[in-house]
Amino acid sequence: MPESKKSPLQFSLDLALTGKGAVPQAGYAAALDKAKGALEWLRGQQGKLELLGIPSRTDDLKAAAKIAATIKDMKTVAVLGIGGSSLGGQALTVLRRQSTPMVEFHDNPDPFSWAAALTRFDLKKTHFVAISKSGGTAETLMQVLTAAEALEKAGVKSLKKHFTIVTEPHKSALADFADEIGAARLAHPTGVGGRYSVLTMVGVLPALLMGIDVKKLRAGAQSVLDETLAAKDASAAPAAAGAALHQTLAAEGKLATTILWPYADTLQVFGGWWRQLWAESLGKDGKGSTPVSVLGPVDQHSQLQLFRDGPGNALFTLVSVDTKGKGLTAPRARAKRLGLDYLAGRKMGDLVDAEARATAQTLSKNGRPVRQIHLAKVDAFEMGALMMHFMLETILMGRLMGVDPFDQPGVEEGKVLARQYLQEG
Ligand code: PA5
Repeated sequence: MPESKKSPLQFSLDLALTGKGAVPQAGYAAALDKAKGALEWLRGQQGKLELLGIPSRTDDLKAAAKIAATIKDMKTVAVLGIGGSSLGGQALTVLRRQSTPMVEFHDNPDPFSWAAALTRFDLKKTHFVAISKSGGTAETLMQVLTAAEALEKAGVKSLKKHFTIVTEPHKSALADFADEIGAARLAHPTGVGGRYSVLTMVGVLPALLMGIDVKKLRAGAQSVLDETLAAKDASAAPAAAGAALHQTLAAEGKLATTILWPYADTLQVFGGWWRQLWAESLGKDGKGSTPVSVLGPVDQHSQLQLFRDGPGNALFTLVSVDTKGKGLTAPRARAKRLGLDYLAGRKMGDLVDAEARATAQTLSKNGRPVRQIHLAKVDAFEMGALMMHFMLETILMGRLMGVDPFDQPGVEEGKVLARQYLQEG
């Protein structure tokens, strides 16, 4: 078991609990009380809920590293998969430390983009990592079938060297394909749902191919898990407190939307991962809130107006990264000549820092609840921590709402119907 480190995430609920943007105190106290029970339930899940055991795993890394080593001389690795089988890996691309092979994610089966990609690839130097928990998702299978065909047409004799499959260890079309061509297979843990799978081989294999330190990724996740499980009460566990904050607003009918607002390009794609996690886990039984992922400062010039003065049924989570004193400097003399004294000699990171603070205050002063998360940097450890925080917050929120955060009947219905329509011709 790796030594546990402190969580790198700093939370502030000040603006959500005090001032004009505060949530009702009594409601928050009641939600925290409920969250305490949810936290106790989570503690009882150790050894049962497979997700909780993933960050401390090391036994699975050797096989993944071995496979990654066999692929490393390829020019391109195309990761095929959709939803939870892709979004986590995509969020990790910002941590990329190497660009050979170039790892690309292909999730949307757009006929034109995919055909163009297959034409663009130097197929003899392309490896396909097909990821599907069920092994039966039509989009991914369509990509696999067409990629195999393109490889054969390009004169590739052995498909085996061009595919790695990540899927559950049971019979499925994808597993059968792997067996048919003799491709390497890595197991998708059966107890971990797609949108919770980024720390398994689903995210780990692409991460290894991008030169990312997966041990640090998992260690970051473990730091948050440890902090959460060790918390004396819900207010001391940011994941539980965050769920309680959401639940306070939901109970009042004031949580139509939850908005994640990072002030860092490195967390933009992360927002897409989080959006699926929240939406698919909690949008059930007529309940749920729409996750909206925006980016600062750019969305100040796009959506802040609505967020400040619109219907006011959202919780804002602003995520900032140390930027103060970082980046390029606005040259003093020219800035002054142009009357831009406030920019003269200031770094671009000072501007971003000031804007993040300004947005938080603007929202709060206008009665909008704001939670703030700060981290010094976004590296593998921090990314793992953020991912675990939001997975736990989502699970705990499911408990508070009384919905099952682990199923996705709506997604399954869509899959069944699509297959039926294709069958009918
Ligand atoms: O999170 C989920 O369960 C879904 O979004 C799945 O990840 C998605 O539907 C893809 O399924 P699979 O991994 O079985 O191909």
